[in-house]
Amino acid sequence: MRRPMVAGNWKMHGTRASADALAQGVRQLAIPDSVEVAVLPPFLHVERVLEVLADSPIAVGAQNCAKEPWQGALTGEVSAAQLADAGCKLVLIGHSERRQLFGESDELLSRKFIAAQSHGLVPILCVGETLEQRQAGRTLEVVSEQLGSIIHELGIGAFFNAVIAYEPVWAIGTGLTATPAQAQAVHAAIRAQLAGESAEVAQGMRILYGGSVKATNAAELFGMADIDGGLIGGASLNADEFGAICRAAGC
Ligand code: PGA
Repeated sequence: MRRPMVAGNWKMHGTRASADALAQGVRQLAIPDSVEVAVLPPFLHVERVLEVLADSPIAVGAQNCAKEPWQGALTGEVSAAQLADAGCKLVLIGHSERRQLFGESDELLSRKFIAAQSHGLVPILCVGETLEQRQAGRTLEVVSEQLGSIIHELGIGAFFNAVIAYEPVWAIGTGLTATPAQAQAVHAAIRAQLAGESAEVAQGMRILYGGSVKATNAAELFGMADIDGGLIGGASLNADEFGAICRAAGC
């Protein structure tokens, strides 16, 4: 049995005051123990959110990390070592905004993935196709290449302690959601690809869906056999909405 996970990606949103208020709201949510919940604030707010969520079951993570695991003369970067030292438990790797807007390649992402793991952080590897790629019938090929390149670089063993998020780029922040059947088809293909390498990894892997998940569509998506929770952007900025999504994962 895989424990469902719901992670809130706050992206580059919030002031000190609003991040604090959102963390306080999240802390008060009634969430079933069966669901693992995490929030991923901007770097600047990580420490405050960790303070607010101390002694709560909700984990805190980051949205990115440097490819160099320790420290060094890398202006503007934040390392996995620093995130782990602060108390972070997870980190997003390869969100489509990083791939598209910051040109992050699969080769770079494999280095970030291993940097995260080398400090005990759980990487949440994001994969997903653009609208153009979907319309060209290339969805499974694109997703399989993104995942396959990390497996090729690091070996399947690196996936024992990782999470995968399938996020169709055309569904992120657009209000368009993949239908449960569309999402399930990709999740099943991801699991089959993992199974080709290791049945154990495939069986245990949490594969989250992301892309305009809301309280109103979460239960239907999370009800699919290979969807093990969600990566939530916009809707995670409202504690009540986020709570409802977390509860939907526990049904
Ligand atoms: P969204 O974002 O829920 O606002 O579509 C999801 C994500 O980018 O992780």
